[in-house]
Amino acid sequence: MGFPINRMRRLRKNENLRRMVRETKISVDDLIYPLFVRPGKNIKVEISSMPGNYQWSVDLLVKECEEIFKLGIPAVILFGIPESKDELGSEAYSENGIVQRALRAIKKEVPDLILIADVCLCEYTSHGHCGVVENGYVNNDKTLELLAKSALSFAEAGADIVAPSDMMDGRVKAIREILDRNGFFNIPIMAYSAKYASSFYGPFREAAESAPKFGDRKSYQMDPPNAREALREIELDIEEGADIIMVKPALSYLDIISKARERFNVPIAAYNVSGEFSMVKAASRLGWIDEEKIMYEILISIKRAGADLILTYFAKDIAKKLKSKN
Ligand code: PBG
Repeated sequence: MGFPINRMRRLRKNENLRRMVRETKISVDDLIYPLFVRPGKNIKVEISSMPGNYQWSVDLLVKECEEIFKLGIPAVILFGIPESKDELGSEAYSENGIVQRALRAIKKEVPDLILIADVCLCEYTSHGHCGVVENGYVNNDKTLELLAKSALSFAEAGADIVAPSDMMDGRVKAIREILDRNGFFNIPIMAYSAKYASSFYGPFREAAESAPKFGDRKSYQMDPPNAREALREIELDIEEGADIIMVKPALSYLDIISKARERFNVPIAAYNVSGEFSMVKAASRLGWIDEEKIMYEILISIKRAGADLILTYFAKDIAKKLKSKN
């Protein structure tokens, strides 16, 4: 049965009809807002390649978190720019590390905001790699110990969720074990499971001051052409105890999100990364695109592909937009 019995345009006639048959919706509940914290007081430095995003000192970050929570955004993910860096990234697991301090301060003032701590060494190591470097190569098993220590230290400081982004093999298991041994069996792990060695992280590395000083991350992050391998990564992370899995970046990897959605029954997060954000901001500043409409279309495409949660630098903008609609 075809035309003229079927007319697809009937249900597109006006906005109210379209609203009724809309298959995908975006809600403030889906959003996770990434934040950068640095030492000092009363500091708010804009990240030049990510307009509207800042490196915050702890005191101002707490106020920002109050605003974020008032907008209805349920969660933030924290990245730290430490006081000092060394070979082994010790500020990642020091009780007085910058993220640990931020966690304690935010928990005190905004206790219901879900605090996710990104677990990785690259922001804390002098060489900028995500683990222990030996002869120019990141040693997997030695790194596991440090990542586990870091996750535990974040949990002790008040993190509600820990999110390993390093791409070492076995890190979910190592983190689950140390958390359980210390009584944190109810702290979920959101694993960056399918994380690609992507050029879309460029602006983030400026924001987090975490670019590798030599080489690249290709010996631990995934090769962009691979899809089946992403499903193996996800499967292994779930076996090791991941509660939420992540695909990162989002836009060039919507196929991976979609495949993961069909295959796995855990919540899926997608990271709409810095480069994806900066491209929109840049084109919008040039007057070449409509930023608000593009932002919405991007986020809805990530949801349509199958993501439940979206980490995005647009979180505040979209939350404001959703609020003004109600
Ligand atoms: C690593 C980490 C990175 C991002 C989040 N966690 C960068 C990297 O792997 O180099 C990128 C996020 C973004 O680009 O927005 N700790």
